[in-house]
Amino acid sequence: MRGITVKGCGVAVPDKVVTNDDLSARLDTSDAWIVDRTGIRERHIGGTTAGLSIESGQRALADAGLTASDIDVLVLATTTPDATVPATSATVQDGLGIVGGAFDVNAACSGFVYGLVVASGLIATGAGRILLIGTDTLSRITDWEDRKIAVLVGDGSGAVVLEPVDGPGDLLSWNLNADGSLRNLLKCDHGGFLSMDGKEIFRKAVRLVVESAERALADAGMTADDVDLLVPHQANLRIIQAVCQRLGIPEERSAVVIDRYGNTSSASIPLALDDALRAGRIRPGARLLLAGFGGGMTWASAIFRWNA
Ligand code: ACO
Repeated sequence: MRGITVKGCGVAVPDKVVTNDDLSARLDTSDAWIVDRTGIRERHIGGTTAGLSIESGQRALADAGLTASDIDVLVLATTTPDATVPATSATVQDGLGIVGGAFDVNAACSGFVYGLVVASGLIATGAGRILLIGTDTLSRITDWEDRKIAVLVGDGSGAVVLEPVDGPGDLLSWNLNADGSLRNLLKCDHGGFLSMDGKEIFRKAVRLVVESAERALADAGMTADDVDLLVPHQANLRIIQAVCQRLGIPEERSAVVIDRYGNTSSASIPLALDDALRAGRIRPGARLLLAGFGGGMTWASAIFRWNA
């Protein structure tokens, strides 16, 4: 049996910071409304999905003390590819100099958890080290005149290096879910802009994330009390708070970066993970509950033991 463990991580965000006041200067909104309804204070905007991925990938490799030649497969979770063809992972593979396989995973804001499970499956069947990157540039599919969406989104990228270990490894349990009958709740047609039914997604997200997390906990033989840190998708601070409350996890045991980055889709979980790690909030052996949800709808949970 071959499992996975994490060797290093890194993030990248564009330099340009857009504050709520910047948005209020051009849209009928306010810092008070945005903070109160979402928890967002500012976001980073700019760059391309490939460019940000190369940056975070380089940092994760450096953090792991490795180089591109040590990687067998690149998995890029993104819902904002730079082109329809080629897959953005091809550009990232070339930019990083990885020799091996490379492909994109699109599961919207659940993409990083989906990518983690896919990487684990590849390693179980013989792959060596995998670079898993979650990157989105939602700003490029946002109508900046639409206050309902413009205040929510941000751009960013986060990467982890995963490596095989003998035995079951550190992915203790997972579940992946999709319900395409809900696809109209959040969508963006080719060449169009993001649109969503925010209220309905909010309601569904809280219920589905809690159900999925409870299943993942049960599969790992754990309860909410055993979770050292909840690392959730960052779409709305109120969703994170409601999930904590329903699962019985104190809010202090959740990783929150939405105030600084907004909703970065596939990047939000690795951005929150890296932030918690750098703040000394993740000790070796810590048990993390990763929980994503988003367009599709998709939703996914994983229990991951941090051993880096
Ligand atoms: N500034 C000021 N007022 C606003 C803004 C804004 N930016 N946006 C909406 N409003 C107004 C509305 O027009 C409405 O006015 P009305 O009462 O006169 O009609 C009022 O504020 C309340 O609007 P709601 O939509 O009811 O506000 P709500 O509390 O639901 O918050 C939000 C909206 C933040 C979008 C919330 O529903 C949410 O976060 N939903 C979940 C989003 C999500 O998780 N998406 C999934 C991932 S996103 C992705 O993948 C890109």
